[in-house]
Amino acid sequence: MFKQLFDPATWTYTYLIADDESKEAAFIDPVNTHLDTYLNLLKEHGLKLIFSFETHVHADHITAGGLLRQHTGAKTCVSKFGGAQLVDVEIQDGDIFMLGNQQIKAIATPGHTPGCTSFLWQDRLFSGDSLFIGGCGRTDFQGGDAGALYDAITQRLFTLPDDTLVYPGHDYQQRHVSCIAQERNTNPRLAFKTREQFIEIMSNLNLPAPRLIDQAVPANRYCGLDENERVRAIEMREVENTLCMMQMQSGTTGQDLVALAKQNITEVNAETARKLLQEGNITLIDTREESEYAAGHIDNATLLPRGVLEFKLSTIPELADKSKAVLIYCRTGGRSALAAQTLQTLGYTNVLSLAGGFESWNK
Ligand SMILES: [Fe+2]
Repeated sequence: MFKQLFDPATWTYTYLIADDESKEAAFIDPVNTHLDTYLNLLKEHGLKLIFSFETHVHADHITAGGLLRQHTGAKTCVSKFGGAQLVDVEIQDGDIFMLGNQQIKAIATPGHTPGCTSFLWQDRLFSGDSLFIGGCGRTDFQGGDAGALYDAITQRLFTLPDDTLVYPGHDYQQRHVSCIAQERNTNPRLAFKTREQFIEIMSNLNLPAPRLIDQAVPANRYCGLDENERVRAIEMREVENTLCMMQMQSGTTGQDLVALAKQNITEVNAETARKLLQEGNITLIDTREESEYAAGHIDNATLLPRGVLEFKLSTIPELADKSKAVLIYCRTGGRSALAAQTLQTLGYTNVLSLAGGFESWNK
């Protein structure tokens, strides 16, 4: 299955590729404002999104990659040389990605940016901003290099079979597809031009800066996520890594996880907790559920349920300074041990868990 989608605001083409049998799918260059359309398309066709590819870190639109990952669990894939953070897969030249039995091959085509990548699937080339229909991407910002672009296009793309279809990252004249022979023979910037002639053409384009460059480039370095979503994604990743490591070290039961967590954190008894709270200068966190908190809690405790800890952390001002003392409690000391371990993983250096929890406190 193959679809070409268009974002009229930025003249961007997005592509959906899917394997009919396994229903595994990938997007190339999704745009953040079309997230709902993408999710509906996946649902309508019963597809499971496996990859969200970027041909490069875009300057003209914000990617939907990070949001698609949040909604579908798809892996975000950007070139190793793209300078992007929070990426699941750092693409290298020659990498092969599988959707069922379908192969998608990455071809490094630097020049528009150092991390530009084209993708080859069956007889189709997705050339991003490297090769356009009758043109090519500009090379005057974001680490652009006209000589490198000439080499990439002439040596890596023009050497593909003549009838390979070329699907670009943009078109400004409502053209949808070209082919390698057509571009090799008629592209005004490249056809029968020497490297020097091409560099000369590219250095005299005098184009204005893209309208969204100041927003798009920083956002795209983080898969298109805004600042809050970024914090959440970083935290989620760290927590996932910790849990994964703990599960590898132990069995997989909750009790094992609690026991392991207790080896890594510091517990205090109710009497010590009481003294610390009296002395002040310690943040008290109740990590039980809202209903438990409502039924009774220690004075001045801030509610931060274990299940949403990573999501809500940044909303609690007292937790902004990671070196400040934090005391966490739950009902009996299990959840708070896990929560304490999570906070430590996230960089908190002075975390205590109340042994025996609220029950022990009450006694
Ligand atoms: Fe671009």
